[in-house]
Amino acid sequence: MTQTLTLRRPDDWHLHLRDGAMLQGVLPETARHFARAIIMPNLVPPVVTGAQALAYRERILAALPEGMAFAPLMTLYLTEDTDAADVAAAHASGLVKAVKLYPAGATTNSHGGVRDFAKVQGVLEKMAEIGLPLCVHGEVTTPEVDIFDREAVFIDTVLDPLRRRIPELRVVMEHITTEEGVAYARDGGDRLGATITTHHLIINRNHILVGGIKPHYYCLPVAKREKHRLALRAAATGGEGRFFLGTDSAPHVDALKEHACGCAGCFTATNTMQLLAHVFEEETALDRLEAFTSLNGPRFYGLPVNEATITLTKGDVAAWPAKIFTEAGPVTVFDPGFPVHWHVNA
Ligand code: DOR
Ligand code: ZN
Repeated sequence: MTQTLTLRRPDDWHLHLRDGAMLQGVLPETARHFARAIIMPNLVPPVVTGAQALAYRERILAALPEGMAFAPLMTLYLTEDTDAADVAAAHASGLVKAVKLYPAGATTNSHGGVRDFAKVQGVLEKMAEIGLPLCVHGEVTTPEVDIFDREAVFIDTVLDPLRRRIPELRVVMEHITTEEGVAYARDGGDRLGATITTHHLIINRNHILVGGIKPHYYCLPVAKREKHRLALRAAATGGEGRFFLGTDSAPHVDALKEHACGCAGCFTATNTMQLLAHVFEEETALDRLEAFTSLNGPRFYGLPVNEATITLTKGDVAAWPAKIFTEAGPVTVFDPGFPVHWHVNA
């Protein structure tokens, strides 16, 4: 019996598209399945001002192949010099949907991020006033804190105090990876949401480290131990409105992943929907996949749900390219390590 599943077209609430040749190469991988995505601003140099975000949006639209429909939802990279009036004007344009907080040094191109939160208090207050969400990379960068504890420590020492200072601020905990992240998001009230990636539902830290180091499974926040993966699965598939998909699909060319100091990021744009159908079926939650990919995110961001649909079919073992060949170099597509039987209909 063929099993099919028709959903409202999904959105990706956390995506890295990069720029130039890489953008050109990876954009179709997302636009093929997704209607919209929140576009991360950690370019070199970062997308800090409203004008830079609108110019980047134009470059994305120019890279979109003929016949593909896709709406980039832009973000601004928060720095200690960010101007509250510029943020408000960007929000008023209707094209900028969030501001991204990178603690300085937390991840790829985050050195321009925030060190002293007192310096961004005014911007955050303005965002709370106008209802513009803050997307948070939730890891401390203190060298003494073990990398596997950085999310939990961030919640206690940075995120919770920040939300108590500015309770009206809408916050998205991006790519949560721990049971502490799940628990905090659950208790956080209506102004708090959390994205979960595809790969953190599939891998734990053993997948990265056992039997040889697997650079294509290395991302930030790094995958944690198994109990955390199980907590993420329960959150994603449980139907609660505060959890939604943000793939954090983050392309780096293979030469920089397979390297003595390899870049962080898993590239899942190509096969996310197939993998999620597999995961949700394993959790006997296929009826909740649409909430996770297509309903909860728009509700949090105050946007309409998509009218178009996407259909998935279960059949023979699915195949997708092992690599996407961009003009910047080859990018390896995330390999779940098990056969997947779900296909996205053309
Ligand atoms: O794995 C990651 N890659 N995590 C991030 O936070 C950034 C991203 C990137 O830009 O490569
Ligand atoms: Zn990211």
